[in-house]
Amino acid sequence: MSIEYINLAYLAAAVLFILGLKGLTNPRTAVRGNLMGSAAMLIAIIATLLDKRIVSFEIIVAGLVLGALVGVILAYRVPMTGMPQLIAIFNGFGGGASALAVGAALEEALKGGFVEGIDVQFTLAAAIAGLIGGLSFLGSAIAFGKLQGIMGDKPILLPGRHVINAILAIACVGLSAWLVIDPSTSLPFWLLVGTASLLGLMLVIPIGGADMPVVIALLNAYSGLAAAGHGWVLNNSVLIIAGSLVGAAGFILTALMSKAMNRSLANVMFAGVGAAVADAADSDKMYAGRVKSASPDEVAMLMDGARRVVIAPGYGMAVAQAQHAVQELTMLLESRGVEVEFAIHPVAGRMPGHMNVLLAEADVSYDKLKDMDEINPTFRQTDVVLVIGANDVVNPMARSADPSVPIAGMPILNVDDAQSVVIVKRSLSPGFAGIPNPLFAADNTLMLFGDARAMAAALVTALREG
Ligand code: TAP
Repeated sequence: MSIEYINLAYLAAAVLFILGLKGLTNPRTAVRGNLMGSAAMLIAIIATLLDKRIVSFEIIVAGLVLGALVGVILAYRVPMTGMPQLIAIFNGFGGGASALAVGAALEEALKGGFVEGIDVQFTLAAAIAGLIGGLSFLGSAIAFGKLQGIMGDKPILLPGRHVINAILAIACVGLSAWLVIDPSTSLPFWLLVGTASLLGLMLVIPIGGADMPVVIALLNAYSGLAAAGHGWVLNNSVLIIAGSLVGAAGFILTALMSKAMNRSLANVMFAGVGAAVADAADSDKMYAGRVKSASPDEVAMLMDGARRVVIAPGYGMAVAQAQHAVQELTMLLESRGVEVEFAIHPVAGRMPGHMNVLLAEADVSYDKLKDMDEINPTFRQTDVVLVIGANDVVNPMARSADPSVPIAGMPILNVDDAQSVVIVKRSLSPGFAGIPNPLFAADNTLMLFGDARAMAAALVTALREG
């Protein structure tokens, strides 16, 4: 196929990528956006395969079949709660693949193969792709290990880590300069990939607990930049555009999530927040004699007499798959004249938009989902807040100025402003950040102990029978 048609196909793919991203900004258009992005990827792959510079198809087809097979199996088997680590490992593979493909292009060019000449654009882009690709590969692998529970999710703070990181970063700059100045050997490139991978590992192991979502968004941005660098090496416009889109989207998401946690990116990356965690004795002291538990019948009575109920869902709703029972409860309350809204914290659950996706799946009207900033001022006029499987995102410890509190400074849902708070969870165990929650012992709080789905169903039954 002539290069004009290939470029035209790439342009179509790029436009579809952009429209797809636009579609993903709203749950109503998200499925269409997703399909557009997939179609763009298909067009880009086909156009690349029809490019006359492809020498043989066997390995490409084998890779496509294997990749598609693994992708389909993972998409069906990985539970919603495991999505963040899946995204982490996909980022890592993307970054690693970019570094390896650029390395292969460099070796080819050194042999006088198909890549036209080695100029500064080539070596500079190769250095960027090798550096960022290596960094995002091992960094993402560590993020995956932490979220999958293969390694502890607490920060690992090595002594002298800032000095080690500085040495690794300087080595990366030096190796990049070597590659650009003397492109006669691929040695600096492979050394760069190795050093950058080590830097990725060193940068992610001190990050723990509640900060992992930000890291994953950042690594996502890096894998996009690595792909864009790869595009510069191969002079491939669709790789440059798609990589830049992933990079920009990742950086925007990173900034939004840091803001949601009220932290600077530097604080997330280097402060080792979450290393010091309160022990069980602290929780016992906080809860002793103050926690009041209630039965589904008592809570149903409380809600039946309410004018306004706000439901604040969290990770436990996802684990219990309670969204359908929660929707049934919502409809029942509304049929009794109770106003019901949902309070959505930006980092509730384990991935961006986690609660929105679950509630949309259960057909909860999108208009009822209120962002934190919108719902917070309304808690004072709320009779009952039903916290379902959420913990960190309603934990008043976040208001503490003590930097050893892993969620210190994170804006939370101010549910404690409401008349009554009912918390549905199975025990007094902490949430993701591993710290006790004084809300459980507050005067206006009742604990409804049990599985979120079972308890939502029990509330429905109690309301019907009451
Ligand atoms: P968490 O603070 O993790 O608390 C979830 C609570 O759900 C737990 O305390 C647990 O208590 C309860 N739970 C678990 N299974 C349950 C079940 N079957 N039925 C009822 N309750 C159940 O959740 P959150 O409030 O949503 O906060 C999210 C946390 O994850 C934040 O720290 C956030 O930074 C972090 N994080 C967020 C993301 C994104 S992007 N959303 C990604 C990674 C991490 P019991 O064991 O007592 O039941």
